[in-house]
Amino acid sequence: MKKPYFIILFCIAYCFNGIAQNSKDNLKLREDNIEEILNALTVEEKVSLLVGGPGNLVPGAAGYTREITRLGIPMTVLADGPAGLRIQPKREGTNETFYCTGFPTSTLLASSWDPELVETVTTAMGNEVLEYGVDVLLAPGMNLHRNPLCGRNFEYYSEDPLLSGKMAAAYVRGIQKNGVGTSIKHFAVNNQEINRLENDARVSNRALRELYLKNFEIAVKEGKPWTVMSSYNKLNGEYTQQKQGLLTTVLRDEWGFNGIVMTDWGCKENTVKSAKAGNDLMEWGNQVEIDRILAAVNSGEISQKKLDRNVRNMLNYIVKTPHFRHYQFSNKPDLNAHAAVARKAAEESIILLKNEGETLPLDGDEKVALYGISSVDFVGIGTGSGWVNTEHIANMQEAMTNAGFTLDEDLAEYYRLCYATQSATEKMNGSSIDKRHRPEPTVAVQAIERQAANNDVAVFVLGRVAGEGADRVVPEDFELSAIEREMLQNISLNYHKLGKKVVVVLNIVGVVETASWRNLVDAIILPWAPGQEGAYAVSNVLCGKVNPSGKLPMTFPINYMDIPSSKNFPYTWDMTQGRRGNRKNVDFTDYTEDIWVGYRYFQTNDVEVSYPFGYGLSYTDFAYSKPKVKASKDGFTASIKVTNMGRVAGREVVELYVVAPAGDLEKPICELKAFAKTKLLAPGESEILTMKVSAYEMASFNEGHSAWETAAGKYQVLLGASVNDIRAAASFRFGKAQSWSVQDVLGEPEE
Ligand code: BGC
Repeated sequence: MKKPYFIILFCIAYCFNGIAQNSKDNLKLREDNIEEILNALTVEEKVSLLVGGPGNLVPGAAGYTREITRLGIPMTVLADGPAGLRIQPKREGTNETFYCTGFPTSTLLASSWDPELVETVTTAMGNEVLEYGVDVLLAPGMNLHRNPLCGRNFEYYSEDPLLSGKMAAAYVRGIQKNGVGTSIKHFAVNNQEINRLENDARVSNRALRELYLKNFEIAVKEGKPWTVMSSYNKLNGEYTQQKQGLLTTVLRDEWGFNGIVMTDWGCKENTVKSAKAGNDLMEWGNQVEIDRILAAVNSGEISQKKLDRNVRNMLNYIVKTPHFRHYQFSNKPDLNAHAAVARKAAEESIILLKNEGETLPLDGDEKVALYGISSVDFVGIGTGSGWVNTEHIANMQEAMTNAGFTLDEDLAEYYRLCYATQSATEKMNGSSIDKRHRPEPTVAVQAIERQAANNDVAVFVLGRVAGEGADRVVPEDFELSAIEREMLQNISLNYHKLGKKVVVVLNIVGVVETASWRNLVDAIILPWAPGQEGAYAVSNVLCGKVNPSGKLPMTFPINYMDIPSSKNFPYTWDMTQGRRGNRKNVDFTDYTEDIWVGYRYFQTNDVEVSYPFGYGLSYTDFAYSKPKVKASKDGFTASIKVTNMGRVAGREVVELYVVAPAGDLEKPICELKAFAKTKLLAPGESEILTMKVSAYEMASFNEGHSAWETAAGKYQVLLGASVNDIRAAASFRFGKAQSWSVQDVLGEPEE
């Protein structure tokens, strides 16, 4: 080659290289160049995307994903829910505050039986997530209420998978409307807090499919969450986060999930197995996990294909986030507007359990003797990661005064002093406030007698707190304490002697025993833990501004041991039994009750309960018309007219239960398959509610065939105001059996 040509060629090559180098340097993540970014990432960078890292973008956030600035991959922020966004309210170097709204807890939201309401609530909540600079809310929690003692039940919805799944799907839709993500958790079968990191839940495939996975299936298909959080526990001998059958076969291949799976917080042995199983992100993430994955990639234990699969999922997640969009968050969500949403949601969800002789509503101008330490220390939210840093949680004293009631001021002052003394003692002793055991102060009988004479009515607020890391217990928690019982007896006796009424407000995070004392009182309101504005909502129900329309999302049993899972719950553990690794209900829990959870058990076996699933009263009455049921090979549609027969406006929840032919299986006597709630009906007004159930939704799971099966035969459709208050029925024949096979990948419970 002659010299001039050589020089020209050299110059051209140099320029091209420069351009290529330049465009490589300029390569930044976009929605449409994920494959290109995958090619540009080094192995180390890829691995770093799979392991959470430190950060301080939003103080109080639970975790972060790692950034790679050279490729425009931002750090993203993950923070807890579900009753609101959980971040630190104060920051160093500024007087600005970062409070969040404490919305009603999930159990109360589920009591609304109103997915639209839930979506409205979480649309507001998601705005706080966005405006405080967070990308994913680690919520909703949606494990089933297998047993009332699970300490986190307030973060969860129901004993029934359909109700739980529909609520979670609505929750996800509302949050994600804001362009931020959710993480449905804890996937799956995380039903106890004791030894939650290691407990092996041993569950049959049928119970898994019909109950413990069903709600997640509904939430994934109908809510499309950006992320799923795998739980800490094991399932049939394997950690859920390492269970390929669960995280890939069921979640992605069967249900079509296409987001990321992240671990619950901590670092388990065998990170490599987690990554291979389809767990994309290790949270909170540490160097050990990075080293383990890197070594496995280098040795070929994790294939390039699997590594890229997880990284691709991460990139697809990242391009959806506000941090990727460079969203300029304000740190100024409209907390006043959201407080109004929180209050309305509580009002629409509160349950009226008892209302003897129309005790309620009160006139609103009564003189009220307000009892109970929880009237001052109101339980707005549970504890643990489900706690929200709100600026204020209204208590019953302020809310009732605000609603126009006149409180017995001496009594109110007494409780304020008791609370102050208890708090001061706790502070002095440096003990953390374990509110569950906050003792109920006594009021002397003579004082109660005097108060009965001086007031028109008694309202007793009974409180219970629990949260992450501990389960509840039976004495003085599920059951009343001796003082609480004595107080109720003395109040009942003295007020009733003078023809005055007694009302109980159950300000509780989980089910309590009610059968032994409910006859002592005239009315019972159940607001659960209703969030920062909940006390106002309770006051509005007491004075009749609001007509309650909530219904129980679980059964209230008569005794704790009536519940089948109570035989296999840590409360009945025996620490002396076996060696470590072999303690029943601690190291492993046998779900021997199988599918017989909640009303499925109580109804089928005709076991008496204190309040049945789906139960809740109103200040008005509703009439149900004859239903119309239209069946096809794809399922059926039922419609029914509901008319308000009373004197005040109200809303009614109609529950649709199906009695299915047995086919090859033993089945619950009936199962909830749909529900609908009327709008606010004026006296005399009607509304036609229509509910659709598909053939797939009618199916039961046949383990022998590893298939969902809808048997042919006669189906009864029951429409009721609770599971044992059926108001209308119809039936149809389903001509041809249908089935849907699935892979048998969830393992078997050990014998
Ligand atoms: C909890 C999760 C929570 C996470 C981050 C874990 O201990 O189980 O529910 O999202 O911590 O705070």
